Amino acid sequence: MGRKTILLLITGVLGAYFLYTPLPDNIEQPWKVMWITTQMEIATYLGLFTEFLGISHLMDTIMFFMGFQEVPPTSDEKVTVMETTFNNVPVRVYVPRRTSETLRRGLFYVHGGGWCLGDAAFSNYDTVSRRTADRLDAVVVSTNYRLAPKYHFPNQFEDVYNALKWFLRQDVLDKYGIDAKRTGISGDSAGGNLAAAVAQQLLEDPDVKNKLKIQSLIYPALQPLDLDLPSYRENMYAPVLSKSLMVRFWSEYFTTDRSLEKAMLSNQHVPVESSHLFKFVNWSSLLPERFKKGHVYSSPRQGSSELAKKYPGFLDVRAAPLLADDSKLRSLPQTYVITCQYDVLRDDGLMYVTRLRNAGVKVTLNHVEDGFHGAVFFDGIYIGYRLENQYISWLSENL
Ligand SMILES: *[C@@H]1O[C@H](CO)[C@@H](O)[C@H](O)[C@H]1NC(C)=O
Repeated sequence: MGRKTILLLITGVLGAYFLYTPLPDNIEQPWKVMWITTQMEIATYLGLFTEFLGISHLMDTIMFFMGFQEVPPTSDEKVTVMETTFNNVPVRVYVPRRTSETLRRGLFYVHGGGWCLGDAAFSNYDTVSRRTADRLDAVVVSTNYRLAPKYHFPNQFEDVYNALKWFLRQDVLDKYGIDAKRTGISGDSAGGNLAAAVAQQLLEDPDVKNKLKIQSLIYPALQPLDLDLPSYRENMYAPVLSKSLMVRFWSEYFTTDRSLEKAMLSNQHVPVESSHLFKFVNWSSLLPERFKKGHVYSSPRQGSSELAKKYPGFLDVRAAPLLADDSKLRSLPQTYVITCQYDVLRDDGLMYVTRLRNAGVKVTLNHVEDGFHGAVFFDGIYIGYRLENQYISWLSENL
């Protein structure tokens, strides 16, 4: 049998297998969701297979498949789209075409993809940025940043931070006709992680005079210290993002050394000298009662100090915004958070909401009972439109 035949066979078998993955009853359009999940799983399994053969890194293979979603920066009748760089970081800028008497609102967007994947040029991100610019009559800047496995923490964080600082410069805001009092940041998944992290960093930066009015975090990843939260337990095989893929993303953010991933999979990566940090991610005290139901809290197991010395990033607040203390959280802007019931990252978002509220920050939580990871950005499914509408109307009222 030729290589193509074998590949086709594998794809067929895997395809049939995953197409029958049972989904929770309340998920809308289950066949469409299964189809989305199937495509992602095929890319992942092909990636794991080629990685096993030593041909390419898992994330490079997935990115190769995803690359077909790239679209050029094409202006349309409503929005002018251009590509430029902010502080040497490539960004896409969306400016509404209609004339405006007043200054516009400005939204800085950070795409998701586990710090390894994604691009502002992908059609789903491009479409939502376009619609956001048009419907809010706002300038949207969708940033790129360097990705793993080639680049690790803190490169992703620093790129986003450097681009954001450029965006908030008065001369840049003036150039795009943006009101300095009405700027915000938004991001999904790993982009939500980066958005939350740079929003915190901004508070301590005396160089930046213009501050953000809002932050919007769409199913964000906020901590890698405890990877055995109830949401990880319940959604180990949830659509789109499994626990194993999320753990791989987290570990790839810091290193391609698979020993970190291995330790993270058994929740045994935080050394005893850092165990004081567990109080910031303690789901037993930070999750609302109904999400704790049926789960017994146990503190993560003790990890090796060597691993933490080699890859200190996973204990760094710039990678884990939940580790910030209350005195820092207190100064954060008004916040919007989307969490999905069927998502390993659900409890990260819920715990951050609790911590922000305890610190006195005004937070709107949109918990989606029939939601799953990535739901906002899959084209052509009802839940995507529904969440996008809710998100844009929150921005419309609060930005
Ligand atoms: C987590 O919270 C629970 C309940 O509030 C508490 O009993 C436990 O000691 C905490 N554990 C850690 C590691 O902070």
